[in-house]
Amino acid sequence: MEKNWWKGKVAYQIYPKSFNDSNNDGVGDLKGITEKLDYLQDLGIDILWLSPVYKSPFVDQGYDIADYYAIDPIFGTMDDMDELIMEAKKRGISIIMDLVINHCSDQHEWFQKALADPNGEYAEYFYFVESENGVPNNWRSYFGGSVWDKVPGTNKYYLHSFHKAQPDLNWQNPVVREKLFNMVNWWLEKGIAGFRVDAIMNIKKDLSWSSLPSDGEEDGLVTVDEVLAYAQPIEPFLTELKEKTFDRYNAFTVGEVFDETGDELQFLIGENGMFSSIFDFRPILLDRKGKRWYTFEQSSANALKETIYKTHKLTDSIGILSTIIENHDEARGATRFIPAEDISDTSKKALATLQILRKGIPFIYQGQEIGMENQTFDTIQEYDDINTINEYHVAISDGLTDEDALHAVQKYSRDNARTPMQWTDQEYFGFSQVKPWLLSSHPNRQINVASQINDATSVLSYYKKLTALYRHALYGESIRSGVFRPVYESVDHLIAYERVGDRRVQVLINFSNQEQRITLEEAYTELLVNNLESINQGGLELYLEPYQALVLGY
Ligand code: NOJ
Repeated sequence: MEKNWWKGKVAYQIYPKSFNDSNNDGVGDLKGITEKLDYLQDLGIDILWLSPVYKSPFVDQGYDIADYYAIDPIFGTMDDMDELIMEAKKRGISIIMDLVINHCSDQHEWFQKALADPNGEYAEYFYFVESENGVPNNWRSYFGGSVWDKVPGTNKYYLHSFHKAQPDLNWQNPVVREKLFNMVNWWLEKGIAGFRVDAIMNIKKDLSWSSLPSDGEEDGLVTVDEVLAYAQPIEPFLTELKEKTFDRYNAFTVGEVFDETGDELQFLIGENGMFSSIFDFRPILLDRKGKRWYTFEQSSANALKETIYKTHKLTDSIGILSTIIENHDEARGATRFIPAEDISDTSKKALATLQILRKGIPFIYQGQEIGMENQTFDTIQEYDDINTINEYHVAISDGLTDEDALHAVQKYSRDNARTPMQWTDQEYFGFSQVKPWLLSSHPNRQINVASQINDATSVLSYYKKLTALYRHALYGESIRSGVFRPVYESVDHLIAYERVGDRRVQVLINFSNQEQRITLEEAYTELLVNNLESINQGGLELYLEPYQALVLGY
């Protein structure tokens, strides 16, 4: 197999609980995914990332793994997994799993044994830190509260960067590393093509366990994210992981890495980098004004454009990013990036063009391809996500009214993207015949696969046009591997770039609700994609309608 076989591919993320329920218990499953492989092939997908399907108590929806070698019964069996891998392969689709190895579940056998004998061998699999006077330091977990919880019956505390049901694994312990590496190889032996690697920059800890100045929140704590800067060096762990596992199988890996600096890129995704790719979260991070969801603000088209141009300038000579507009941790991209009054099929198609054709490996998140939007949940009780519930309570304790706190979490809740995939407009969306595990208060049934699949003008059909460009006889090479070059940079709200390889492809996106006029530098050879029915042009003068996106071949 070619070394960088994954370059120029199109990927899709499945959130298994919410994709397709084959046995009608209200929860999606592996057989449900297999049933939809033809749909995914038709959409032009090469790589399929499954969010965790391992055995789990689902405190954090599977990101709390109780057994790395078992499929959770709600998803089916290992035979179902093998069948999925095989059926996907037949269709030229590679499966990648979620690799969650910073932490496991408190129900994992290792943690249970550690609790049973806090001075024994298994206690060394975790960070059990002795402390006489309360928690060892002032670090705040990602989901709120201290990162420390008491080991019952001792004066020790165990570390959890996320929820208390997700104890961090002790990567300092070579036995733990070896067990994790064996597990990774076991999955690769099975025929999966690689991994999306969860929270991987958290595996190294600052073992001095020093408190840091509070980040200014009322609780006097500091987010564990800030502590990462002191947790160095991470390189030996990552190198060992890569050399003992991924490299041996020529696996594709995409790291969940936030806030990487230009200096780290070579190390992360350069020629001999730790991962094949990392996600580009920069567009998503634009909203993060302040620390809490209630302080976040929607970003502008110009900010989006600047970030994308800057990111390519910084990254493209080093490695390949994986691009997203949404995932299972984020609001829906259409709602996040398009002003509410402008949301339409046209603007969704414009956003799709921007993501799918910019350089990188586009990851389409389930439902994105039909233009699913944020969901409405009327009360906090209807939410499932632990992070949403935490953010809501923080907002209330910071003095917001119930209404304002709810409003903030409605915009950014992870549950926005976790509701069932809408296959039809039926009561349970053709996802299941029974009530799904997560349901918003007012689902928008109008957006569904059945109504779009045979409609040449639908958002879904448009996504197919974009992914088809990756296989285009004349222009495919430029789309798959061409250089990214911004054009018409100074035109406000116009996000425009070229992909230059054997041929030249120009992408022009009017990301605004005003008509825009530009003068082309030369006549194009072919109009490859247009998200509207017509094109308003006089010679080289081009009038772009609001949210019009054009893909021109030269
Ligand atoms: C990132 C995952 O995407 C998220 O869903 C999860 O809660 C945390 N990592 C912890 O595993």
